[in-house]
Amino acid sequence: MAPDKRRVERMFSNMRLYEARNVIFSLGQNLVWRRYLIREVEGKLLDVATGEGNVLRLYRRGFKVGVDIAMGMLRRAKGNLLLVRGDAENLPIRDATFNTVSIAFGLRNVPDKLAALREFNRVLKPGGKVLILEMKVGDGILSWLQIPYVAIVMPLLAPLFGGSVGDYIYLFRSILNFPGPREMEELLVASGFTLERFYHFHLGSSYLYVGRKVGEVRT
Ligand SMILES: C[S@@+](CC[C@H](N)C(=O)[O-])C[C@H]1O[C@@H](n2cnc3c(N)ncnc32)[C@H](O)[C@@H]1O
Repeated sequence: MAPDKRRVERMFSNMRLYEARNVIFSLGQNLVWRRYLIREVEGKLLDVATGEGNVLRLYRRGFKVGVDIAMGMLRRAKGNLLLVRGDAENLPIRDATFNTVSIAFGLRNVPDKLAALREFNRVLKPGGKVLILEMKVGDGILSWLQIPYVAIVMPLLAPLFGGSVGDYIYLFRSILNFPGPREMEELLVASGFTLERFYHFHLGSSYLYVGRKVGEVRT
């Protein structure tokens, strides 16, 4: 089932201690995965689903802008960042403006992933880069540990950190439903990119896809 945009927006806007919870539940791995993404950024960066600006703050080599649908997340962003409220499926950005578009732990929340990727293509300059960092249910033995951890332990512990059980059940479903590498490549190709490479961390519990704009996609 596709995520409900209004519910997602409300959930993130009202989320307290967002980053502290990520660090605790991922045992700090979210910080490491974001650093891999930052190393791949080229030139002017648009960070979509930027939330509290955690990716933007790490990028110090050029102009950067963040977009997010949830005003509550943008309001909690610290530092002097250029932030705009907007939807990944319909970005409030002119064509061919950026060299890199990134999205970290965001694409799984977007109902129409192909529409979002086509928007990323539109706002990228020719030859621009797309970077998608996302969690997924891992392979083999890891999934035996990860599924009970994400589906049961995290929802039960969430209230201790100001979270709700329902938010974490949503999180588990969104991770479970997120496409694997083959489907991601198909989505990228259908939106005018080529998949240059991907990294997988911790036996596939998280992926970083690196795509390159090779064509224009008209909708
Ligand atoms: C898990 S947070 C990730 C935030 C940030 N990228 C990070 O690494 O901390 C997911 C973010 O996606 C945003 N989001 C969800 N659906 C969106 C959409 N359709 N367009 C733009 N942002 C969206 C949420 O508001 C939330 O801030």
